[in-house]
Amino acid sequence: MSRGEYIAKMSDCTACHTTQTDKPFAGGLAMPLPMGTLYSTNITPDKETGIGRYTLADFRRVLREGIRKDGSRLYPAMPYTEYTKLSDADIESLYDYFMNQIKPVHQANRENDIPAIMSMRWPLALWNWMFHKQGAYRVKPDESAQWNRGAYLVQGATHCGTCHTPRGLAMQSLASDETEHSFLAGSDLGGWHAFNITSDETAGIGKWSQAEIVQYLKTGSVPGKAQAAGPMAEAVEHSFQYLTDSDLNSIATYLRSVTPFNDDKNKPSRFEQGQPVSQDLKLRGVPVDVASKKMPGASLYMGNCSVCHDADGSGSPDGYYPSLYHNSVIGSEHTGNLIQVILHGVKRHTASGDVMMPAFGQHLSDKEVATLVNFLTKTYGAKDANISASDVKALRVSE
Ligand code: HEC
Ligand code: HEC
Ligand code: HEC
Repeated sequence: MSRGEYIAKMSDCTACHTTQTDKPFAGGLAMPLPMGTLYSTNITPDKETGIGRYTLADFRRVLREGIRKDGSRLYPAMPYTEYTKLSDADIESLYDYFMNQIKPVHQANRENDIPAIMSMRWPLALWNWMFHKQGAYRVKPDESAQWNRGAYLVQGATHCGTCHTPRGLAMQSLASDETEHSFLAGSDLGGWHAFNITSDETAGIGKWSQAEIVQYLKTGSVPGKAQAAGPMAEAVEHSFQYLTDSDLNSIATYLRSVTPFNDDKNKPSRFEQGQPVSQDLKLRGVPVDVASKKMPGASLYMGNCSVCHDADGSGSPDGYYPSLYHNSVIGSEHTGNLIQVILHGVKRHTASGDVMMPAFGQHLSDKEVATLVNFLTKTYGAKDANISASDVKALRVSE
């Protein structure tokens, strides 16, 4: 893998710029924003429809400042707010990769569907003036080389904060590095919650070891703590699994130093909840129709989930089928992720193997999913999530 390709992988340019595998980087991904739908653009080196006419200086400017070759401003849906931290050398390698290793694809960009008044790009200049801190990462001489490398990667290329740092009313990220309150403190995105990953021991991942953080980013799974589904599974699959162990360790070192953020000291830790509880024993000898009326959660669980996660929720010994207690998705007060996992399943392909949990969205009604979620959070998590069928319905839209 060339240096440029490595930087493209860790920055996950593919996530937003590739929609058809046979046309890498040709753009066209729909990004629903509060004011309308924006489409990512063609960044192949095609001279008419792509970025074939960009010079290195143009390319540096678009990544650092979000300004296109023609001088117009990009919406901050393109994470130039993070990529601004990339070093000159890394930008140069990335430029070389896009210009010389990517096949030009002739495909015109799609117009965005943002209402005329909102689609004026000049107010973005004001947005940038207010919120965007431009400039390459600056080394902190008091910290180790490993820490600095981690800070460079987390704040910049791997853009963890794009998903994990809360946003304000103008969609601006509320913090861009560890010196600012709420950096990586958790944020909602498209029906998912990207958890608090500060070093707080209960609200964050302060009790995870260095090796566990590395393993999670490389494989997406740390049995007894967490698995990566949804957007995090994609980030692991397309990006983080390719990072060298040295880079992953740098990320872990830096993460473990990020100021703890805890907005509610009474909130229990996500991954320390619950214990094995056998549904099989509870339902034994109870006629099926009685069980489904009186113990609907346990019945649904035995009918749909226990084949893989075991009757007592302990999963398989190797963790391929994860345990449902000591599981951050069930232990979290943000129930959206659990609903998403049941509706849409889990798919993750990495060098360490294929992970697949089937989607139950077609098979289970909104009410059944709600019943299961309330049952699971009560049995294997901290407390009954108390959600209703309409909460589930709201998350089906992404199907
Ligand atoms: C989270 C989604 C996302 C990621 C990740 C992303 N981009 Fe973008 N990018 C966009 C969107 C959306 C636009 C169009 C924004 C607009 O029209 O205002 C864009 C526009 C661009 C443009 C402007 C091209 C033009 O039309 O002139 C360039 C260049 C670009 N991206 C390069 C990159 C590179 C290189 C990477 C990886 C280092 C990357 N992008 C990663 C979403 C993304
Ligand atoms: C595209 C959005 C996105 C990006 C980028 C992203 N994450 Fe995540 N992350 C998520 C979501 C969503 C979850 C919850 C996944 C789930 O419920 O299975 C998550 C979960 C996690 C968890 C598990 C926390 C727990 O308690 O279960 C860790 C650790 C984590 N991310 C670290 C990182 C790091 C480090 C980076 C940058 C190197 C990063 N993430 C980048 C969206 C993202
Ligand atoms: C065919 C086997 C299978 C069945 C049936 C199954 N699962 Fe899973 N489940 C998996 C696999 C595989 C994973 C992913 C493990 C990983 O990410 O490493 C998983 C993951 C999960 C997770 C963790 C997701 C995360 O992001 O941390 C939860 C929660 C879960 N399943 C709940 C359920 C529920 C509830 C049911 C029943 C409606 C169910 N599963 C049915 C195989 C299954």
